[in-house]
Amino acid sequence: MSKEILVCPNEKQKQFFESTARYTAYGGARGGGKSWAMRMKLVLLALGHEGIQILLLRRTLGELRENHLFPLLSLLNGAAEYHSTEKEFRFPNGSRIRLGYCDTESDVLQFQGQAYEVTGLEEATHFTERQFSALTESNRWSGNMKEPFRPRMYFTCNPGGVGHDWVKRLFVDRRYRENENPDDYRMIRSLVFDNKFLMENNPDYVKTLMALPETRRKAMLYGDWNSFEGAFFPEFDYDKHTCEGFDLPKEWLKFRALDYGLDMTACLWIAVSPDGTLYVYRELYEPGRILSDAGRRICELTPAGEAIRYTVASPDLWNRRQDSGKSGFEILTAGGVKRMVKADNARIPGWRCLREYLRIDENGAPRLVIFRSCRNLIRTLPMLRFDEHVIEDAADTPHELTHAPEALRYAVMSRTPSGKQVRRLPFTASLYRFDDPRNDEETYEQIIDY
Ligand SMILES: Nc1ncnc2c1ncn2[C@@H]1O[C@H](COP(=O)(O)OP(=O)(O)OP(=O)(O)O)[C@@H](O)[C@H]1O
Ligand SMILES: [Mg+2]
Repeated sequence: MSKEILVCPNEKQKQFFESTARYTAYGGARGGGKSWAMRMKLVLLALGHEGIQILLLRRTLGELRENHLFPLLSLLNGAAEYHSTEKEFRFPNGSRIRLGYCDTESDVLQFQGQAYEVTGLEEATHFTERQFSALTESNRWSGNMKEPFRPRMYFTCNPGGVGHDWVKRLFVDRRYRENENPDDYRMIRSLVFDNKFLMENNPDYVKTLMALPETRRKAMLYGDWNSFEGAFFPEFDYDKHTCEGFDLPKEWLKFRALDYGLDMTACLWIAVSPDGTLYVYRELYEPGRILSDAGRRICELTPAGEAIRYTVASPDLWNRRQDSGKSGFEILTAGGVKRMVKADNARIPGWRCLREYLRIDENGAPRLVIFRSCRNLIRTLPMLRFDEHVIEDAADTPHELTHAPEALRYAVMSRTPSGKQVRRLPFTASLYRFDDPRNDEETYEQIIDY
C-alpha cells in the first residue's frame, strides 16, 4: 500500500500541527479550517508514529460521517484500510484511527477502559464537561507504540453549544482550578480570514457569516466568546434558585410534573407556598423504565400521607399505544399515579413562563426555588442552549439535558392561566381542581379554576 498525501497547512494550521501541549484547541470561530486541520493532524500522527492509537469524536453519527468519515475514506484510499464494524482506519504501521460519536451522556462510557495516545474532539463545545473529563481517562499510553509518546488531546471549537463554558474557561479565559496546570492548555485562534482556501473558493461563506444577527456574527465571524448568548436560562443563579431542603408545611399544595420517555423518566415534585413561589423538592431521574415501572417508582417516592393534588404530564401519554392498546395515562393511573392532567406543552409560551418564574423580583427573590437534592434538574437547567433555528426555543440536543427542564415547563404552565403574565397572577389554591365528585381515578378531566 502506498500513496502520497499532499498537505499544505496555512500559518495557523501549522501552529496547530506543531503543538505538543497536553490539550491543544484550534479555531474559536466558523470556517477557520478546523475540521481539515483536525483530520490532517491525526493522519500525520498515524503515519509518523508506528502503532499509535487515535480516537476522533464528534457529537453525532451524522456529523461524523459528513465531516470526517467520507473525507477520510477518500483521503486514505490506498493508505489505510477501513473496517466499518469498528469504524476504524488501520494503517500498515500498526497505527489506528477510530471514529466515534457521543450522542448521549452515556455514549462516552464505551471509550472508558480503552487507551488512545491521541484523542481529537471536533466541535468540543458540543460535548459536556462530564463527557470531556470521562474522555481524558482513556487518553493514555496504549502499549502499542515503540517510541515514547506523551498522550494528548486536540480540540476544535466555536463559541456556543452545551460545552461553551468549559471550553471558554480552559482555553479562552484560562481560569484554572487547583488540579489543572495552565501550561497544559494551548489555544490557537483562527478565523475564516485565515482560511485562504475558503476565502478564494467560497467567498459566499463569509457573506453568510456577515449576514448573521449581531451577537452570533460577533461569535462566529470574529470568535468573540463573550458576546455569545449560549445559555438558554442565563438568569439561573445557583445561589438564588436553589436552597437546602426544609420541612414543607402540610397545607402547601403539592403536585408532580412528569416528562416520560423510555430513555429517561423525569418527574418533579413541587410545592406551592402561600405567596405562589414554587419549590421543587424531589426529583426522579432514571433511564430505561417502562411505563408501569416508572409509575411504580413515582408512587414509591411519594410518602403515604403526602397529598398530591395532581400530576401534570406530557399530552402524548393520552395516545393509545400500539403494542397494548392502552394509553400511558391508563397504565400510570392503574399503577397508582392518580389525578393526571395533560400538560400545556406549547414550547415557547412555556419557556417564557419559566423565565418569568426564574426572574428575580423587586424583593430580590425568584418565584421558583429548587431543593439542592434535585441534582439533575439543577445540572441540566443551566446547560440548556438556544435552538439554532427557532428563536426563543431551547435546543432539543443533547437530548439528555431536556427531560427535567421540560417537566419543569409543564409544571409552571399548570400554574399559569394561558395568556396571562405570571407576575400578575394572584395566588390560587389550585389551578387544577380535584374536588369534583366524579371518580378521579379514571377519567379525570382538566378543570381549570381561574
Ligand atoms: N490547508 C488547507 N488546504 C486545503 N483545503 C483546506 C485547507 N484548510 C481548509 N481547507 C478547506 O476549506 C474548507 C473549510 O474548512 P473546514 O471545513 O476545515 O473549516 P471549519 O473551520 O471546520 O468550518 P466550520 O466552522 O464550518 O465547521 C473545506 O473545504 C476544507 O477542506
Ligand atoms: Mg468544521
